[in-house]
Amino acid sequence: MRMVDCIEKKVNHEELTHDEIQFIVDGFVSGEIPDYQMSALMMAIVLNDMNEREAADLTLSMMCSGDTVDLSDLPGVKVDKHSSGGVGDTTTLVIAPLVAACGGTVAKMSGRGLAFSGGTLDKLESIPGVNIGQPIARFKEIVRKTGVCVIGQTGNLVPADKKMYALRDVTGTVQSVPLIAASIMSKKLAAGSDAIVLDVKVGSGAFMKTVDDAKRLAGLMVKMGKHLKREVVAVVTDMNQPLGLSVGNALEFREAVQLLSGQLPTGDPLLEVCLLLGTQMLLLSKLAKSDEEARGMLQQAIDNGAGLSKLRAMIHELGGDETLLTLEGMDKLCRVKRQVPVTAEKSGYVIGMQAELIGRAAQVLGAGRETKEDVIDPAVGLIMHKRVGDPIQAGEAICTLYVNDEKNLDDAISTMKEAVQIGAKPDHVAPMVYAVIR
Ligand code: URA
Ligand code: CA
Repeated sequence: MRMVDCIEKKVNHEELTHDEIQFIVDGFVSGEIPDYQMSALMMAIVLNDMNEREAADLTLSMMCSGDTVDLSDLPGVKVDKHSSGGVGDTTTLVIAPLVAACGGTVAKMSGRGLAFSGGTLDKLESIPGVNIGQPIARFKEIVRKTGVCVIGQTGNLVPADKKMYALRDVTGTVQSVPLIAASIMSKKLAAGSDAIVLDVKVGSGAFMKTVDDAKRLAGLMVKMGKHLKREVVAVVTDMNQPLGLSVGNALEFREAVQLLSGQLPTGDPLLEVCLLLGTQMLLLSKLAKSDEEARGMLQQAIDNGAGLSKLRAMIHELGGDETLLTLEGMDKLCRVKRQVPVTAEKSGYVIGMQAELIGRAAQVLGAGRETKEDVIDPAVGLIMHKRVGDPIQAGEAICTLYVNDEKNLDDAISTMKEAVQIGAKPDHVAPMVYAVIR
């Protein structure tokens, strides 16, 4: 078999066979297939697409390129969730403990933030003492004990994705539905859960910019789950503005604690998306028979504090100081040198936001990394005071920046002003949920 023939097949709109896909993934991971050939193939895939069978074969070959986690000795249905990246998206810190409080088993591996989008691991590390690098045996022990554990992905999980992703990032080949589907699903399947709930984001702060593309990605991942005998449900949700009001690591952790303390009002977007995803997780775990029953269970675990207790138990097991997980404790972690309001230059209505730029503003204040080596300041970031559709007066604060290092303060302020559009009349407000695909 020759790589150049595989590339030419894709260029000519032909289908790659199972054996060809296996050959490509194996050869690329071992180094026999050079980056330039892989780049050419991936560009051909971006332009000419893959069918469902090819995407499923690619997912399976990628999944088998490294270690896989066996969770079969843990009791019950193991359920995982994945969001395709976003800004102010603190759902994992809320749902994983809530689902565990309702009797579910959540053994989850999360990632770090990338560019403008936040990562659960960085948020976890805002609690002093937390070690997200637990060995698998200890990870499983924590799940057995508390019903929930979130750690970092182990070193050799899906090396094919690590290599392909790095190459896609610099060759303009990120935006392919089958490549994204294979990237996400290979990692989720390798992590060993029986059931997976996927939150596919669409909008200005997401990889998918149109609802049609997001639905196609969601549908493809659900079908792949079927091929590979896992239960997968995907929801398509809005990322045209930050999901929660907080953007930054300790700030987002604080919002999760506020939510789990019952402090967020009904209809709050973060709360609603958490209840939606948690509902799907309880249904797949066979712990509830209907949406209403699942939602009621989750709401109860918020009201009686069982969800917050689970989060504390998990933080304790990860070595963190769980006594900080109170409203006062979280305020302490969010203490900064200066809080700087960014104000509106004219009166009107908030008609749109560039969520990516809002993530970028938090990042330049030190909440995210520009390069892998950058060190994060957990306390910095921003709190939004407005959502799309809200009225605003000239001089009123759009958001408050949480600042320690003032080096990039001017940059953050101008980025925020660019990120929020104000118009004379209220404009169409995007729905929070576009589809649930089973
Ligand atoms: N998230 C992933 O893990 N992979 C992609 O390709 C895109 C988003
Ligand atoms: Ca995220």
